Amino acid sequence: MLILGIESSCDETAAAVVEDCTKLRSSVIASQAMEHRLYGGVVPELASRRHCENILAVTQQALDEADITPQELDGIAVTYTPGLIGALLVGVSFAKGLAFSTGKPLIPVHHMTGHIAANYLAHPELKPPYLCLVVSGGHTMLAEVTSYTTFRILGTTRDDAAGECFDKCARVLGYPYPGGVQIDKASQLGDCKRYQLPRPKVNGSELDFSFSGLKTAVINMVHHAEQKGETIEKESMAASLQKTVSEILTEKTEIAMHQTGYTTVAMAGGVSANSGLRAEMEQMCRKNGYTLYMPPLSLCGDNAGMIACQGSYNFLAGITADETLNAYASGTAIGEMLTIS
Ligand code: KG4
Ligand code: ZN
Repeated sequence: MLILGIESSCDETAAAVVEDCTKLRSSVIASQAMEHRLYGGVVPELASRRHCENILAVTQQALDEADITPQELDGIAVTYTPGLIGALLVGVSFAKGLAFSTGKPLIPVHHMTGHIAANYLAHPELKPPYLCLVVSGGHTMLAEVTSYTTFRILGTTRDDAAGECFDKCARVLGYPYPGGVQIDKASQLGDCKRYQLPRPKVNGSELDFSFSGLKTAVINMVHHAEQKGETIEKESMAASLQKTVSEILTEKTEIAMHQTGYTTVAMAGGVSANSGLRAEMEQMCRKNGYTLYMPPLSLCGDNAGMIACQGSYNFLAGITADETLNAYASGTAIGEMLTIS
């Protein structure tokens, strides 16, 4: 079974071909990050335009590298939610056109389930059910992966996502977009005990997250230091932030593991590339005897291999769409995605 995946939810135009769910035959990513860096973050209108310009060549290259023609595909999977609406629409419209012209099934994929599926590409032995910590630029979730296509959200963020917290703090510290990876690099040179940062709690909900207070604390500490003519030790602030975020995420994951009784846990999303978080999770899993799965760094960020992989499982479960498929910026939780499709 050969599935083409198309991803255009943010600033990466990507296409990939996956064989039999987990074999990555090709993966092409055209990143716009350096262009958006000029503006300190993603400019939605610019992202949509670049997707329009790149999507055909990126898809052709993915087919060429996989050495197949569109006629040999069994289905065309596309990210339809969540993300920047203009950006999503490019991928969805393109995939609809390709599915219509080739007569192949169209398969809708929720971006966050794609991130989870990145683990299957690297670790085909991973099988549901298990628990997954999903951490990206827009989402922070603890999800129970009950099957390849069904998910139960146990906890989520009440405000900012972990990635957003990294990105905003990186910006105030003067690091360029995308900030998360800069915080990671700077942390290697800093002292993580130098700054005491708050650990916001969500009253009455042990598995929910809140990162806006932490973000505001970092921003305030930087501004106050500037006003007093003092200098912040940037690397140590980065290291303190990374340590705090990693500990919060790992502690909540540990509680969820205890509560659910799972012994297998995975990580997914752009922030799962963070070296501090990976180390913290490894330590927690070693202590408890849990099996931990993490995507390789190449599959943590946005890519289309993960969309083709999840698309393959959706296809096998009968989750397909017709030409009325629309894109949705937000508001579609993972569990709902499956009732929609
Ligand atoms: O999953 P992703 O590529 O896109 C979304 O679906 O949002 O995640 C992007 C997020 C950004 O916030 C980025 O700064 C963060 O992942 N990120 C990192 C690292 N690499 C990417 N955050 C911390 N450490 C990293 N090494
Ligand atoms: Zn993503």
